[in-house]
Amino acid sequence: MFSAIWAEDENGLIGAGGKLPWHLPADLNYFKEKTVGHRLVMGKATFLGMGARPLPQRTTLLLTRDQDFSLPKGVERIISSAEFIDKNQNTAEEIFIAGGAGTYQLFLPYTKKLYRTKIRHAYAGDTHFPAVDWAAWHLCSSVPGPKDAEQPDYFFEIWGRNE
Ligand SMILES: NC(=O)c1ccc[n+]([C@@H]2O[C@H](COP(=O)([O-])OP(=O)(O)OC[C@H]3O[C@@H](n4cnc5c(N)ncnc54)[C@H](OP(=O)(O)O)[C@@H]3O)[C@@H](O)[C@H]2O)c1
Repeated sequence: MFSAIWAEDENGLIGAGGKLPWHLPADLNYFKEKTVGHRLVMGKATFLGMGARPLPQRTTLLLTRDQDFSLPKGVERIISSAEFIDKNQNTAEEIFIAGGAGTYQLFLPYTKKLYRTKIRHAYAGDTHFPAVDWAAWHLCSSVPGPKDAEQPDYFFEIWGRNE
């Protein structure tokens, strides 16, 4: 099964110049806590924005049409996204869709769970999460993230797809 995991601001912004528009270490820890031990899918732009390094204790499955792109250890290329989706969308294994926007868009119709960090602040940037039909989803939990006085309020939300 596929689960999408991301953080967005109050306008659905997720990226700025290939990177995250904010610095929220507790959200990065949350991402790590959820994804360690799992396979995760990432588009090449996101992978490059993270310094083209594989994430420890996880296998990164990279989406790129560039067959010559050299893959570091711990990174595998998804040869056919259609075949990959077909094979994995109904398995028990939780595979995390880790962005960016194009990758979320591609997997959203086949995604069963959403881990959305919602930040109550507006940032500047250029990349937004794709449109979600929220009528098809229900909120399972929403937990305030730990913050200091300078940080905006933000919430770790988990959404499930309606049966
Ligand atoms: N806030 C968050 O939680 C979060 C999470 C992740 C990313 N982001 C942000 O999102 C932004 C990047 O998003 P993005 O939409 O520009 O890029 P992306 O989804 O990370 O990567 C796009 C690339 O993936 C490859 N790709 C996409 N669809 C494919 C398909 N069907 N088959 C094969 N390859 C495919 C293509 O690579 P090739 O051109 O090599 O073929 C494409 O250029 C960055 O700013 C990043 O920081 C934010």
